[in-house]
Amino acid sequence: MKTVNIVLFLVLVILVAVSFQAANRLGVNPLRGLLGGREVTGELEADGEETALPPPARAGEVSVEEAIFQRRSVRSFADRPLSLAEVSQLLWSAAGKTVDGVTGPTRAHPSAGGTYPLEILLVAGRVEDLSPGIYRYSWRNHSLTKIKPGDFRDELRQACLGQRMVGQAPASLVLTAVAERAVRRYGERARRYIPMDIGGAGQNVHLQAEGLELGTVIVGAFNDEALKKILELAGGEEPFYVMPVGRPGR
Ligand SMILES: Cc1cc2nc3c(=O)[nH]c(=O)nc-3n(C[C@H](O)[C@H](O)[C@H](O)COP(=O)(O)O)c2cc1C
Repeated sequence: MKTVNIVLFLVLVILVAVSFQAANRLGVNPLRGLLGGREVTGELEADGEETALPPPARAGEVSVEEAIFQRRSVRSFADRPLSLAEVSQLLWSAAGKTVDGVTGPTRAHPSAGGTYPLEILLVAGRVEDLSPGIYRYSWRNHSLTKIKPGDFRDELRQACLGQRMVGQAPASLVLTAVAERAVRRYGERARRYIPMDIGGAGQNVHLQAEGLELGTVIVGAFNDEALKKILELAGGEEPFYVMPVGRPGR
């Protein structure tokens, strides 16, 4: 009887281990239910003054089809500020929280296995109700935390190999990734997945900009070390896209 119990116990342990491994491979967090439905995927925390963002809108004036049709890279911006509501909408479209249901929050962009390596920083120059500075976006709180004060748009332009529109735009989103979040699940394969995650988020920003009658462009040509220095990125966080945003100029 004792041997039968031990065998049954071992079978149970193996079954639990196998199902955890399968769930993990599928990107489902088997602990989510036990944790009260809370998302456990990481987010880098920043110390500093926090600004709550206006809630993102769920409806707009431009259809998805029109936004896809109209989308073009914009490389000239009018000398006008962005509103905080526009910045809020753009950040949310990239990586904000979407369905907050029983299985935990999901995000605006798809991510391999739900590992969400993406982080977003904002280099703000002329944004109404937001002082110039570098901010980190929190998708959990839908807020911005100031990393450092000051207008860094010209330094950002220089890091982007002098591309003029980067200094001209009222603000730029910078999409970065903490590779480790994806690498610990996928190993080397994660190196292929991370740029795919970034691509989805970048396209969301492009289409959302169209929806707000704004313009943007993906900037991938930059000096990695110079950009990391401006943004004060710690080791393990790599920049992928700089996306200057503003009202299209001439
Ligand atoms: C990965 C990537 C990197 C890019 N880097 C730059 C860049 O550094 N500077 C720039 O002006 N455009 C850049 N672009 C924008 C492309 O030049 C642009 O998407 C392409 O010419 C097609 O034009 P469209 O976006 O107007 O359709 C980049 C686009 C991608 C996808």
